[in-house]
Amino acid sequence: MNDSGQAPLHSIHAPSLRYTVRFERGGPSFAATANQPLLWAAEQAGLLPPSSCRNGTCRTCMCRVLRGQVRYRIQWPGLLPEEKAEGWILPCIAYAQSDLELTWPRNFRLPAGA
Ligand code: FES
Repeated sequence: MNDSGQAPLHSIHAPSLRYTVRFERGGPSFAATANQPLLWAAEQAGLLPPSSCRNGTCRTCMCRVLRGQVRYRIQWPGLLPEEKAEGWILPCIAYAQSDLELTWPRNFRLPAGA
């Protein structure tokens, strides 16, 4: 991330980078590219994380990063500075920059058979 809080363009256009995203306590994992919001990647893997606005304003998808790094394409997503410092993220607009371990979002439902 640069001084303005935005990811450099070369990292935004690096769709071939793939990361493994795991949910805490042995929960399911999924693959996410560097160019795909985490929420979309989870849904493509058949998971059903809670979501509503899908643009970073409602906070329905909010969860915490326990390990790893994410970036945003917008300068200031709908999180308080204290929340960002504690690791809270909005997966609908967050992009993996490394392998990740996440907390379970509130109201997370696993699909039947998962
Ligand atoms: S779905 Fe609304 S903030 Fe992520």
